Amino acid sequence: MRIKTRLVAGLLTGALAVGHPVSAPATTAPDLAYQDSRRPIQVRVSDLMSRMTLDEKLGQMIQAERLGIGDPVDIATYGVGSLLSGGSSQPTPNTPQAWADMYDGFQRQALASRLGIPLIYGVDAVHGHNGVYGATVFPHNIGLGATRNPRLAERIGVVTAKEVAGTGIDWNFAPCLCVVRNDRWGRTYESFGEVPQLASSLSTIVTGMQGRRLSDPASVLATAKHYVGDGGTLNGKDQGETNISEAELRAIHLEPFRTAVRKGVGSVMISYSSFNGVKLHANSYLINEVLKGELGFKGIVVSDYNGIDKIDGQPGFTPAEVTASINAGMDMIMVPFAWKAFIDTMRTEVQAGLIAVSRIDDANRRILTKKFELGLFEKPFTDRRLTATIGSKPHRELARQAVRESQVLLKNHGRVLPLDKSRNRIFVAGKNADDIGNQAGGWTVGWQGASGPTTIGTTILQGIRQTVRASTTVAYSKDGTGIDKSYDVAVAVIGETPYAEGKGDRPLGMGLDQADLETLARLEASGVPVVVVLVSGRPLEIAEHLPKWAGLIEAWLPGTEGQGVADVLFGDYNPTGKLPVTWMRSVAQQPINVGDGQTPLFPFGFGLRYRP
Ligand code: GLC
Repeated sequence: MRIKTRLVAGLLTGALAVGHPVSAPATTAPDLAYQDSRRPIQVRVSDLMSRMTLDEKLGQMIQAERLGIGDPVDIATYGVGSLLSGGSSQPTPNTPQAWADMYDGFQRQALASRLGIPLIYGVDAVHGHNGVYGATVFPHNIGLGATRNPRLAERIGVVTAKEVAGTGIDWNFAPCLCVVRNDRWGRTYESFGEVPQLASSLSTIVTGMQGRRLSDPASVLATAKHYVGDGGTLNGKDQGETNISEAELRAIHLEPFRTAVRKGVGSVMISYSSFNGVKLHANSYLINEVLKGELGFKGIVVSDYNGIDKIDGQPGFTPAEVTASINAGMDMIMVPFAWKAFIDTMRTEVQAGLIAVSRIDDANRRILTKKFELGLFEKPFTDRRLTATIGSKPHRELARQAVRESQVLLKNHGRVLPLDKSRNRIFVAGKNADDIGNQAGGWTVGWQGASGPTTIGTTILQGIRQTVRASTTVAYSKDGTGIDKSYDVAVAVIGETPYAEGKGDRPLGMGLDQADLETLARLEASGVPVVVVLVSGRPLEIAEHLPKWAGLIEAWLPGTEGQGVADVLFGDYNPTGKLPVTWMRSVAQQPINVGDGQTPLFPFGFGLRYRP
């Protein structure tokens, strides 16, 4: 018997105008307690769970990749609780409207299930809604760490949530509260910095994303990730081993999660890494006893992508891995493609008494509580009023301000900076000067990001050109060819090309690439003063080159609003950025962190200004 799902025709003119059924508060008393929005949430959860079969409860614990859903009817048939778009899983066309239509389509399938339980959909909007073409892309976290501005981080959370909600999505796998301790790590740029105080203070982004109430139209569920110690692995190896004392784990890596839990973060994602030989995905002590017990976390604990498969180091998951992880406290399983087999394995393990039904019930209570808090039973579809805000001018202005505040002035010899807007001949060079993809970095319209015009925004070169007066000449040559003494200054915008996760690990050298070295050689040979703008996700090994540069600004990965870099170059913003990580003198110093007794090139917290 299918229980009627009460979807009263939307009363919102706007929604009706676009023909999307938007539910509104029921106009008649709902048939069942869980459908009655006037009842307390825990009453609704208990009523709903009392009606669910074991299979329906197991289905709620599944988060499948949207591309892993063959027949959409399976969503209702198996009662799939959640879907995600992985870093490169965008609809075609990749437009806000297509995202919202996709989300609404999947949601309709979920509501057709026997009990009409809406699904919750997750994405990685880690620096704005970065998977959507045309969305506002903010500086990556390491740049926000340089701002030291919790209020700015909160405002970024608000805007990010608005753009995410504008595509229907209700769950954001952000912020990463990792504390990077070795800059070789490919996820250094996802960290706010090398000390826990930065991640803790900037976790205000959680408050911005979740709003005053999760049920507000522009609120989304935030995720503190990756629990715990992912930034402390040996040699900065992604998904590696964190071999430190529990006291150090608590002091350095646990604190930001304690802060985020206090702020009411709705979900926590478990790290792929290990702590002293035990995979976090099977670490009952750290999940059950510390996170859920000591920290009192009542939200959803979600695995990382195929994270359970990696417990034994072999491909695929085994019954033992499934049982170990769920008994360790995992509530939602991000199992992108093999989700039907995962349900079968869970069922077998429960029926064998190896996973207690009470554990399944605890996971469901956590998941359903968030779905009720998000208001998904009352408003399961995209609020299309938010769709139009995606990539809007006000949002981009906020991103530009974040770029300004994230710039760190590291050298200004002879006050070569700020540049003069009017009487100048400026020569711009470098592979990152006119490349929106490079300045945005990884997790931008694709998991790994990409070079080139990957989305809409302002490159650093365009920002420079938009800033100068007509009397100033701005020449551009990607590799520096054509530079001569007629120019007053050369601006070399160099650094890294996009990467994400382990693909960004640097186990060997951390110096500049060949293209940059050749560009710099051309500029330096001309005798024209060289100002370097380094677009990178971490400190690079530059000590030997620094004496040849008149000026140096670390731009980090600024995102779509390159105008913010030009604002600092020309003094429209007096730089305030401070290093969120210690800058090595030599790669041999890695790991190098504040207080470790080593002598860096630039210390943690360093940053110059043009004027006091
Ligand atoms: C990735 C990342 C995690 C992300 C998840 C979903 O592998 O480790 O940060 O949220 O998968 O894309």
